[in-house]
Amino acid sequence: MRATTVTEVRPARAPLSGSARVPGDKSISHRMALVAAVAPGRSAISGFSRAGDCEATLSVLRDLGVPIERASGDIVIEGVGWDRLLSPERDLDCGRSGTTMRLACGLLAGSALDLTLTGDPQLLARPMERVAEPLRLMGATVETSDGRPPVRLQGGWLSGIEYELPVASAQVKSAVLLAGLRADGITTIVEAVPSRDHTERLLSWLDVPVETAESPGRRVSVRRAEPRAFEASVPGDISSAAPLLAAAAAVPGSSVTIEDVGLNPTRTAFLEVLARLGAEVEIEPSAETGPEPVGAVTVAHGDLRAVEIGESEVPALIDELPLVGVLGALSEGATIVRGATELRVKESDRIAGLVGGLRALGADADELPDGFTVTGPAKLSGGAVDSVGDHRLAMAFAVAALAATGPLSIEGLDSVADSFPSFVPTLESLR
Ligand code: S3P
Repeated sequence: MRATTVTEVRPARAPLSGSARVPGDKSISHRMALVAAVAPGRSAISGFSRAGDCEATLSVLRDLGVPIERASGDIVIEGVGWDRLLSPERDLDCGRSGTTMRLACGLLAGSALDLTLTGDPQLLARPMERVAEPLRLMGATVETSDGRPPVRLQGGWLSGIEYELPVASAQVKSAVLLAGLRADGITTIVEAVPSRDHTERLLSWLDVPVETAESPGRRVSVRRAEPRAFEASVPGDISSAAPLLAAAAAVPGSSVTIEDVGLNPTRTAFLEVLARLGAEVEIEPSAETGPEPVGAVTVAHGDLRAVEIGESEVPALIDELPLVGVLGALSEGATIVRGATELRVKESDRIAGLVGGLRALGADADELPDGFTVTGPAKLSGGAVDSVGDHRLAMAFAVAALAATGPLSIEGLDSVADSFPSFVPTLESLR
């Protein structure tokens, strides 16, 4: 377990301004690395995330005998294909990354390997039956430890399934689609509300036939295929841009631009919510050169008013909901988030952690079984708050600190390294 540190964040004494870049998208980095490992030949990926979670994916692939070279933000992966992955000498360590574990389970279900996936104590508390169940239906042998990691996986001969996602989860969808590349017949995922579609986009860009249909629900189908090696660049992570943009919305007079950020519509709901809250949002798309739309986003402060978020908006906003809570505290009226039970099984119980933190800052916040309410505007005090080792909560509290009346000591702010190692200096550069 990581030793926690306490970091003080001072209130903003003046508007935030300027432009910044954020690290490569974490979700896209994981997917590109995993797919490159089984695409025979040399793949070169620029802008690859240096987040701890993506390092965990690279380390898992290295343990499977995949050669990976790294030079600053670029990586080169010599894809070996599924059949030449090596039996690892130790349990695969997924660190604190749920995406690594769940997507690796899907990718490796179609290999001939027998292995165990494990990770840090934080990851050992997270649900894994959600991927084990569909992979078992496809023919893999998967054992969880009371539903959680370590996960013992024996890959093998797989058959396609049609699987309706019981929880809106891009990780589960992606695990099943990756397994589907090694399965006989057609593998179809049905989701009631579209979740992030990076896996489908990447596979389709790599000439793997992917069929999608929008009704009833969203259906995505793949069949046995081998992706080709590729050269691609990873756009900036909209979920890392989000706290910087939220800071601009929170501090009067601010205007902040984030360049070269991913604008995939299944990830940009937070920008719509910022506009609904009353911030000014400007999006400038760039020419598309890879599987993902990219552009610049500028957000300027406006008078904030409460928003209501329901289940249909949650998947495209899931990692940004703690920021909605903080902005809700600064808004006029009652901000209500529902249909977000998934927040309870992220790196921490984000509903409990967020509401606890907001209350410590003097906000009027309450837990709901599937979300939270925050009534504002509150005068946020400084003081002390615990991010419970959760990077998204830590960044949300740093945004709250900017709008607070005094300095805020955030316990565990170093957890930002899981997704955005340079978060603090980037935020400081906008003061
Ligand atoms: C992710 C999907 C989401 C998200 C996580 C990354 C992905 O999780 O919260 O940070 O890369 O597929 P779920 O699929 O569990 O909702």
